[in-house]
Amino acid sequence: MITFQKFQPSCRDALVVTDEHIARLYDIVGDNVFLLPRGERAKSFAFVEALCRWFIAKRLDPSGKVVAVGGGSVGDTVGFACSVYKRGVSLLQVPTTLVAMVDSSIGGKTAIDLDNVKNAVGSYFFSYDVVIDTDFLRTLDDIQMASGRGEILKYRMLDEEINRLVSTGADLDTVIARCAHYKQSVCDEDPFCKGKRNALNFGHTVGHAMELSLGIPHGVAVVNGIRYETALAAKLGLCTEQYAEFWQGETNGFDIYPLTEQMLELTVQDKKNVEGAVGFVLPTSFEKVLLPLDKLKKLLL
Ligand SMILES: NC(=O)c1ccc[n+]([C@@H]2O[C@H](COP(=O)([O-])OP(=O)(O)OC[C@H]3O[C@@H](n4cnc5c(N)ncnc54)[C@H](O)[C@@H]3O)[C@@H](O)[C@H]2O)c1
Ligand SMILES: [Zn+2]
Repeated sequence: MITFQKFQPSCRDALVVTDEHIARLYDIVGDNVFLLPRGERAKSFAFVEALCRWFIAKRLDPSGKVVAVGGGSVGDTVGFACSVYKRGVSLLQVPTTLVAMVDSSIGGKTAIDLDNVKNAVGSYFFSYDVVIDTDFLRTLDDIQMASGRGEILKYRMLDEEINRLVSTGADLDTVIARCAHYKQSVCDEDPFCKGKRNALNFGHTVGHAMELSLGIPHGVAVVNGIRYETALAAKLGLCTEQYAEFWQGETNGFDIYPLTEQMLELTVQDKKNVEGAVGFVLPTSFEKVLLPLDKLKKLLL
């Protein structure tokens, strides 16, 4: 369930997990608080193990609830720990970044990284609720806001109403609410990503490769992915040149990085791949397309 309300960090009877930066900003302290490092570094077996040990020390049983206050890095890590600890303990996600509000806190995908493979280990975990308090965005820096706007650009290409809201200058809270409910409705229809939910991975094949190799924020990498994958779709005749040019134009306000051969090599580990071919979700059908790496290099470099 997604609710929009002011978050009160004084949940004394719950176990709260956040990151060091958010804890400092919002004075989240106490015996019931576990601190992860900032950003992607949290998404590791080491911190999942540390969390599970802390849950044991706190005598958390499966009837308890964990509160994850943070961005996608906190949510993905805590979500994975909650999904495996005693075979599942409920989670309340309190997203504090724009990416987490419109995307990562919703849908039940959890993951950690391993051996330079993003989201290599993870689970689907549906025992969660989400409380969105957009006041958290007041302290978010411009780079992380741009990252969230990157995911919103993806939604604009998938949902006419989101595109209309953004194009007509609707306020951010309205856009966030529509994106969150849109994602939840797609995930309700296709929880295990067998069909419609795949569309949400648009921009993410190239995006994840660039995120890993450049260390740029997730949504900024997705915008780069949108730009390159839209060009790919046009070259494959899946969309018109005008369509590609329009959406590439919409990426102009973001930081765009050159795509290299080494980055494309990283796509061989993408979760959408089948029998060695690289999996993409491309406009305008937003269905999975498979391409051999050689062909991909020829088309994109
Ligand atoms: N599970 C999913 O469905 C899903 C979807 C999208 C992204 N993700 C994952 O989410 C991760 C990215 O998450 P993210 O973009 O939310 O970033 P993040 O969680 O890595 O946080 C980025 C930075 O923002 C800081 N921060 C967080 N909230 C803040 C606030 N309110 N004020 C000031 N600073 C704040 C953090 O301390 C951190 O330094 C990636 O690993 C990505 O793969 C998962
Ligand atoms: Zn994403």
